[in-house]
Amino acid sequence: MIYQLLYTSRSTVPRGGHTDLDILSHALTNNRLLGVTGCLLREEDGFCQVLEGAKDTVRALFEQIRCDPRHFAVTERINRLVPMRSFASWSMCYGALSAADRAFLARRFAGDSRNFAVVFDRIQKIAVAS
Ligand SMILES: Cc1cc2nc3c(=O)[nH]c(=O)nc-3n(C[C@H](O)[C@H](O)[C@H](O)COP(=O)(O)O)c2cc1C
Repeated sequence: MIYQLLYTSRSTVPRGGHTDLDILSHALTNNRLLGVTGCLLREEDGFCQVLEGAKDTVRALFEQIRCDPRHFAVTERINRLVPMRSFASWSMCYGALSAADRAFLARRFAGDSRNFAVVFDRIQKIAVAS
């Protein structure tokens, strides 16, 4: 089974700058070595990231990411075990969250629905369109 973890955070750095490139280039190299795939979505002042792979590996990477000073208010939203990866083709894809995507996710995170599949479907669509 594949462990998927989704978190959101507020960024301390502006969207699209060299910091995003630094994060991505590190993630692309390191995640390939770790067997981790996923997606990093950017809002003006925040991140939403999915990490997927072996549970222990994903948890250890997340604890490292959580302490990174380039963001704060890191909030774990979803973790689950699934039979297949959602982002198998990407060591870490990068995309932008529109206002509509952001509102959709905020509604999902505020509710108590356990239907996480719709969240991952939406994020997959954003990734494919990016
Ligand atoms: C929003 C965000 C997402 C990140 N995602 C990843 C990631 O997917 N993989 C990764 O290796 N590092 C990621 N990082 C970087 C890690 O937090 C950390 O800087 C890096 O793993 C440190 O590696 P080092 O100890 O080998 O220098 C991310 C950082 C931020 C702020």
